[in-house]
Amino acid sequence: RPRMTFGALAAMKERGEPIAMVTAYDYPSAQIAEAAGVDMVLVGDSAAMTVLGHESTVPVTVDEMLMLTAAVRRGLSTPLLVADLPFGSYEQSDEQAVKTAQRFVKRTGCDAVKIERGGSSVDRARAIVAAGIPVMGHVGLTPQTAASIGGYRAQGRTAEEAVALCESAIALQDAGCFAIVFEAIPTPVTEAIMPQLSIPVIGIGAGPSTDGQVLVFHDLLGIYDGHTARFVKRYAELRGEMIGAVSAYAEEVRTGAYPQPEHGYGMPADESARLRA
Ligand code: KIV
Ligand code: NA
Repeated sequence: RPRMTFGALAAMKERGEPIAMVTAYDYPSAQIAEAAGVDMVLVGDSAAMTVLGHESTVPVTVDEMLMLTAAVRRGLSTPLLVADLPFGSYEQSDEQAVKTAQRFVKRTGCDAVKIERGGSSVDRARAIVAAGIPVMGHVGLTPQTAASIGGYRAQGRTAEEAVALCESAIALQDAGCFAIVFEAIPTPVTEAIMPQLSIPVIGIGAGPSTDGQVLVFHDLLGIYDGHTARFVKRYAELRGEMIGAVSAYAEEVRTGAYPQPEHGYGMPADESARLRA
């Protein structure tokens, strides 16, 4: 497959070809996303929850995200690689946002960064784009600021909220974002906004009318043990399989069924004889 480009992504929207995006947080998950042939990979700050065990996305640091994104980069060559800028790393000023985005590109080789919300984030997006770094927007349920939007719940459920959402999305597009995530937005609201946007919209809990979908790796594989949202579809139940495999191993260690002779190393017969002498 040819390497994914921003032009190819725009062309997919143009052709009405659905865009498949998944998160990844390390080398093996990146290799799996690569082998599965997805179009885009997001190193989401959902890593805070899925791989670092925090209760929200807020605590994850720039250094942690840099480490995870660099690992994903090493396992990925075809899809576009987008990295989430973590909470507190871009909101303060355009200068802070550009500096953080540049650190991600320099240290990890990601293709783009993602920031949350409309409002002041529209200016941050414009500044990062002006610095030559592609930006993905993210509206609707924005987990970094969940506390101020009433928690982890669908957004835009009143006509006023829906209009505000639409305005944020258009503002992010006008700021130069190459794509935008719609998270937990009522299907009719998404449908109403879609004709207003010319950039690819990637939905998660936003219905079928978006240009593509994104899901969290650990959610879709059934690895994550915490609460999962309504929009998650589990395509496998790997957690159970993983526990089964580790349990079987532990049991065989305890019974002596593992290791067998074929799991050990031999030595040349003459050396073995000398060892016994
Ligand atoms: O962090 C994340 O995984 C995300 C996606 C759910 C869009 O932002
Ligand atoms: Na995120």
